[in-house]
This record gives sequence, C-alpha cells and structure tokens, in this order.
Amino acid sequence: MRNGAAWQLNTQLGGDAMYIYKVGVAGAGTMGAQIAQVVSFAGLPVVLADRDESLARRGVDTVRAIYQARVAKGKMTPEQLEEKMLLVTASPNLDGLHDADLIIEAVSEELPLKQRVFRELDRICSRSAILASNTSALSISAIASATTRPGKVIGLHFFNPAYAMPLVEVIPGLGTDPQTVDDVVGFSESLRKQPVIVKECAGFLVNRLLSPYLNEAVWCLQDGDVSIKEIDQDMVAFGMPVGPFALLDTVGLDIALDVARILHRSYGPRMAPAPLLEAFVKAGRIGIKTGKGFYDYGVEKDSLDGDLERLRTQVWQLSGRQPTKWSRLRPLLAMVNEAVIALQEGVASARDIDLAMAAGTGFPSEKGGPLHLADHIGIDHVLQELDELQERVGIRFWPAPMLRRLVDAGFTGQAAGRGFFSYDPIMARMR
Ligand SMILES: NC(=O)c1ccc[n+]([C@@H]2O[C@H](COP(=O)([O-])OP(=O)(O)OC[C@H]3O[C@@H](n4cnc5c(N)ncnc54)[C@H](O)[C@@H]3O)[C@@H](O)[C@H]2O)c1
Repeated sequence: MRNGAAWQLNTQLGGDAMYIYKVGVAGAGTMGAQIAQVVSFAGLPVVLADRDESLARRGVDTVRAIYQARVAKGKMTPEQLEEKMLLVTASPNLDGLHDADLIIEAVSEELPLKQRVFRELDRICSRSAILASNTSALSISAIASATTRPGKVIGLHFFNPAYAMPLVEVIPGLGTDPQTVDDVVGFSESLRKQPVIVKECAGFLVNRLLSPYLNEAVWCLQDGDVSIKEIDQDMVAFGMPVGPFALLDTVGLDIALDVARILHRSYGPRMAPAPLLEAFVKAGRIGIKTGKGFYDYGVEKDSLDGDLERLRTQVWQLSGRQPTKWSRLRPLLAMVNEAVIALQEGVASARDIDLAMAAGTGFPSEKGGPLHLADHIGIDHVLQELDELQERVGIRFWPAPMLRRLVDAGFTGQAAGRGFFSYDPIMARMR
C-alpha cells in the first residue's frame, strides 16, 4: 500500500513522474470536509478552502469531528488525532490552493459556479497541477472547457460518507490526458480507495445504475399491493445493506428526483421518474432532513399511512394504475438491464461495473454485482423476465440488445460456464 507524505505516481508505468506533495480542496461543505479528512488520514497535507474564513473553519471542524468519532471508537489516540489535524489548514478563498499539486473541487452542484471556480483555479494554480471535480452529475468536459488545461482536468467522484465508502469513480473528460488518469488512479489508491475508471456519461456509473433500481422500487410501491416496509425488508433479505426507501430517505428524495430527471433527459423514457416520487417531493416528504419521507422521523410521527394513501390515489387518478405483484426481481432487473446497456456503451468493463456497485452501494458481495447476478440467474431467464416485464409493465424494461446476443450465442451464464464472466467448469463442479 502506498502511503506517506508524498507519493510519486506512475514511475511503474513509465510515464512522467507526478509528485503530489500537497492537496487542495475547494469547497469545505459536506463532501469537501470528508475528502480533506481522507487525504490527511493518508498522510498528505491538505488545504480546505471556501468562500470565507468561517466556512473554511467549519470544514476543518468537521474534519476534527470525523477524527474524534474514530478516537471515541478506540480506532486512534487523541495524540494521533492532533498529528493528523496538523496536516489540515483552512483558507478563506481559493488563493490558498496556489501551491497544491492536486485540487479537488467540491463546491455546490451548479455548472456555472463550477466553471467559475475552475477558471479561477486555472489562473491561480501551477501549470502542472491537476484540477479534479467531485461532481455527481455534471459534465467533466463542460467544466474543463472553462480552463486552459483540459488535459489536466478530471472527475474524481467520492461517495458519502467518503471516510467509509471505498469507491471513487475516475472520470476522464473528452480532453483529459491519459497521464492525468493514471496519476489520479494512483493517488486514489494511495488514499486506500478503490478507483474505477468510468467513461463520461450522465450519472457516471453508480448513480446511473442505482437510480433505475430506486425508481423501480417506487413504481412497485405505486402500483402494487405492498408496503414500504415489505419492500425494504425484502431487499435487505436479498443482501442490500438498507432497503431502497430507507436509502432514498437518507439521500433525500429531492436529490434522488434531480438525479432521476438528469438521467431521464439523457437516456429517455426508461428513466422517467415514478410519479409517486414526484408526489412525495411535492408534498414536502423529502426524507430524514425534513423529518418525513418514506418513513416518519422525529416529531410528526404516524403521518405516513394517511399521506401515502392520499398521494397514491392522487397518482392513480392522474396516471392510472397497473396493479402488479411485488417481486424483488423488478428493481434488480432495472439495475441489471442498465448495467448491460452501460457495458454495451463501454462505460466500464464487466468486472469494474460489478466492483463499483459492490463498493459504491453495498450490493451484496457474495452476489458479486448486477452482472454476476445475471450470470447466476441465467441470462436466458433474465431476458425472458425482461420481455415479460416490458409487455406487462412498460417499455422501460426493453431488454439491452447484448442480452439477446449472449443468449443466441449460448453465453447464458454460470450454469453454461460463460456469460458476462467465464466460469471454470472444474471449479464449478467442486463447489
Ligand atoms: N453530498 C453528497 O452526498 C455528495 C456525494 C458525492 C458528490 N457530491 C458532490 O460534491 C459537491 C459538493 O456537495 P456537498 O454536498 O458537499 O455540498 P455542500 O453544500 O455541503 O458544500 C458546498 C460548499 O461549497 C462552498 N462554495 C460555494 N461556492 C464557492 C466558491 N466560489 N468558492 C469556494 N467554496 C464555495 C459552499 O460555501 C459550501 O461550503 C457537489 O458537486 C455534489 O454533487 C455530493
């Protein structure tokens, strides 16, 4: 494991050596502070910048709080905490990032703001510095276009909470140099993160695959004779760390709806947000942050049942109802189908898609990820289910063309010894 005060990248790849002695983080909010903690934990100095002194200081306080939680759990000593905090400094503006070798931008998710910040960073920072964005959904190429160094601009997407989530998505833009990709992959590994290189597309990889899964759970709730709790419990029984509704409440239904809308705009009808999700957001039930979402939290207890009935009826009146029986295959196959479409598009390799979903969403590792799951179920069976869902439920289940190609060629999954992955028949017999 590479660790320490500075990491010389890419010597093993034969590229130009890239030293990262110092990291800058632009934006000291939720993610900026978490990223600064991860960087300092790996032993690198980090400057946390925001719009003013108090916002930057607040970010540093958050870093301290993350370390304090580790001390409380006995994972580090108070002395080690103080040592790590010596690596973290605050800056009241972006000027304080002038001598960083890598800057990770984590300001609010607005393209004009990010472009303004990148334009300024491009002016302030040395020509050799890499400028990375933690954006969840914006185009890296569009952000890079605000700079005079698109070759040095890249997406580096951490997941919340960054100190616990092992995955980072590395997203080259249209003009990103391969060397920058290598440098950022090496840097991510030095943070003890699992980098996955993702071709630039709306939602990148994890959100692109997670969103249809969550959205389908809401469609199931909207149409079916099934409760929120039953769906959540069934998905946890499958092996997910939390159910889709508990996750939506944590993420925020408003944020999930924004993501769904961005994906809908990019990918068309299969990503259309479930009307019940829109109804919940409109009714102000947006999750834990407001005390009510798909569950009730805090003061206003027990308002859910009444609201759910009212909102469901409203939605049925507007868009009709397709009564269906709950099956966990429905949200799972929405994810699997999107995984296959992403694979077809070359967004990532089959191995990386599964790795990313396990590390980024907690998809049960014994199931291996959506593509391993398809191999396990049988790709012929997946195709048959999707065909049926497409007829019964809607066009959004139109099967990815690659599924039919695989089935026609006998690549039907684990039982056949080959599918998205190959399976050694001798090992399979021994199992
Ligand atoms: N919150 C999440 O779960 C999450 C997860 C992954 C990625 N992201 C992405 O990370 C980025 C930050 O999200 P967040 O949730 O941390 O937001 P946040 O609102 O908590 O923090 C944003 C920070 O940026 C600062 N800021 C705004 N304009 C600035 C400027 N001109 N210069 C310096 N600082 C400025 C704000 O003062 C604020 O402190 C977004 O692009 C978001 O999409 C968020």
